[in-house]
Amino acid sequence: MATAGRSRLRTALAAGMLAAGTGAAALVAPPAANADPQAAKTSSMRDVVPAPVTVKPAADTTFTLTSGTKVFTSAGARDVGGYLAGILRRSTGYRLPVVDVPDDAPDRASAKGISLLLAGADPSVGDQGYQLDVTAKAVVIRAQRPAGLFAGVQTLRQLLPAEIESATVRKGPWVIGGGQIVDRPRLAYRGAMLDVARHFHPVETVLRYIDELALYKVNYLHLHLTDDQGWRIAIDSWPRLATYGGSTQVGGGVGGYYTKADYAAIVAYAESRYITVVPEVDMPGHVNAALASYAELSCDGKAPPLYTGIAVGFSSLCADKEITYKFIDDVLGELAALTPGPYLHVGGDEAHSTKPADYAAMMNRVQKIVADHGKSVLAWHQVVGATPLPSTVAQYWGTTPSSPEVAAAAKTGTKILLSPANKAYLDMKYDANTPLGLRWAGYVEVKDAYDWDPGAYINDVDASSVLGVEAPLWTETIVTLRDIEYMAVPRLPAIAELGWSPASSHDWTAFRTRLGSQGPRWTAQGINFYRSPQVPWAS
Ligand code: ACM
Repeated sequence: MATAGRSRLRTALAAGMLAAGTGAAALVAPPAANADPQAAKTSSMRDVVPAPVTVKPAADTTFTLTSGTKVFTSAGARDVGGYLAGILRRSTGYRLPVVDVPDDAPDRASAKGISLLLAGADPSVGDQGYQLDVTAKAVVIRAQRPAGLFAGVQTLRQLLPAEIESATVRKGPWVIGGGQIVDRPRLAYRGAMLDVARHFHPVETVLRYIDELALYKVNYLHLHLTDDQGWRIAIDSWPRLATYGGSTQVGGGVGGYYTKADYAAIVAYAESRYITVVPEVDMPGHVNAALASYAELSCDGKAPPLYTGIAVGFSSLCADKEITYKFIDDVLGELAALTPGPYLHVGGDEAHSTKPADYAAMMNRVQKIVADHGKSVLAWHQVVGATPLPSTVAQYWGTTPSSPEVAAAAKTGTKILLSPANKAYLDMKYDANTPLGLRWAGYVEVKDAYDWDPGAYINDVDASSVLGVEAPLWTETIVTLRDIEYMAVPRLPAIAELGWSPASSHDWTAFRTRLGSQGPRWTAQGINFYRSPQVPWAS
């Protein structure tokens, strides 16, 4: 894997943002050893983000994690148990052995310790939800599927003191308030997108971001793998896409690309966090890196130079050449083979250099190619200008609730993924002082990101047509992991809550308080978050 390290300074200078994102962001010193101010506080079940469906705290009941605590798991829950124990061991220093128990053992729920069980959950939790009971003797998470247990584990982390997230051993005590949570997501798809094309982001950065997404029960990671400035995934049948097309990035750095082994490692890591990767190869526009790599893909047969600026809409695949469709079939076939999830994202946005008739013909043929590889299409909402297949999902990135074309498509069965740019785009600046990001869709403070309803956002699109929400992070100005964190946190948790929590719980005043209680957790995890003045940060 090539990395972008050497290019960073140059890129930062090019973007006029030296010291941005690091200097101006909230740098937080690690807490002093032995001073565990958070550990003394019991976190409330009412502080969980995203807000659970039902929360019933039990006054005067607490469970304490001790050096003797065990993690009991039924067979299908062992991996989630190991994941939980791994997190808890770092900060507690306890052994926390993971012990197998049968799902139907009569004493399973009374075992002293933490039990993760694939039986006995309230039926309302469905495939992704969970039931969590905390008594003086035990913490019991029950779900119908491992994904539900994993979501319950994320909730349990938030019920422990913030220092539980520390990478080094802290003193405790590790007290959890008693009560019951029964929880399930509102929307099936709760996503984040990372643009690894404008600036290449190495595998380690993506894995860390996956862990941060998991905290808020995000279950899809969309990787924007190709654009004018770079092609970031090895394709064996068209090797120059990565080796040449991936050799630079915005600002002129060395770029980089994922080998197939790198990419498989990302997919597997995401899977271990119950996150499905959605790969995007953008077409018919945003293809300069591909055209630069293979002259035969251009209508005029000439390869353009590599591109390191941030303009859009100037490149197009050639509708009239049969090689275009061989290219698309080869690329999507190799990508489908790397993709256990149901979707291939084929872009379809900002095809300003493609004639509308060509656009529709190409996107129709692309949809058929994706179907032939056993996958469903996700595409930016301009795909409704072609003829969406019944399985095609349109991702709305407009900035107003008015989109008659999208509403018409929804009426004929197209499912909609909501990413309105003026609400959900994590690359928009928070305000005029934000050192990173763009502002073409306006400033997006935390309240803007939170205060809308994905089920009722687009005029004349019924909630039943909404598959979910996604928070995209474009990276024209975003170079490092710290930059990613600064733009994503705390807006990503806001979008994640819109996707998970019931519409009836939507309340900015309550949300900002719950969000403020996450601050010490992010500090303990070393996350470089933006301390929005709109949020009452807990200390
Ligand atoms: C987009 O922001 N061009 C989808």
